[in-house]
Amino acid sequence: MIETVSFRLNDRPVRLRVDPKRTLLWVLRTELELTGAKHGCGVSECGACTVLVNDRPVRACGAKIKSVAGKEVVTIEGLAKGTALHPLQQAFVEHDALQCGFCTPGMILSAYGFLRTHPNPTYEDVLKGMDRNLCRCGAHKRIVEAILAAAAAMREATVP
Ligand code: FES
Ligand code: FES
Repeated sequence: MIETVSFRLNDRPVRLRVDPKRTLLWVLRTELELTGAKHGCGVSECGACTVLVNDRPVRACGAKIKSVAGKEVVTIEGLAKGTALHPLQQAFVEHDALQCGFCTPGMILSAYGFLRTHPNPTYEDVLKGMDRNLCRCGAHKRIVEAILAAAAAMREATVP
């Protein structure tokens, strides 16, 4: 059955007529043409599909579109403020923290959630906090270094 689902997406209101049982990931990638969130495992294991819902990381492959009704969704496309990259995006660029880039949107948005609760992490904290996000290219070391650099930049600038 088709229903109307309304929410905010990257600071804009969205109102869709959609099967409420479809996943957030596939509605983002098809109806809304936002392909930053990736389909990796499809079973909430790899983190490639991570987006923010009400400022917390959510695996979009495991979330029904109806579950975000009335909420605020941010995808990697909405993280920068105008032309200013978020410190996490900037740090991933500066630390070359990617190879193919498939895991990167999910890594960045998971790291965003991690840093909200761990603003001053150690290397080991990042390893542990990010251990449910997989990178098949093996860029993990540079990813951890980028997250540590972003944490430092965010503490300095008090960026959310
Ligand atoms: S595609 Fe969603 S966690 Fe892997
Ligand atoms: S950079 Fe290729 S999967 Fe992580």
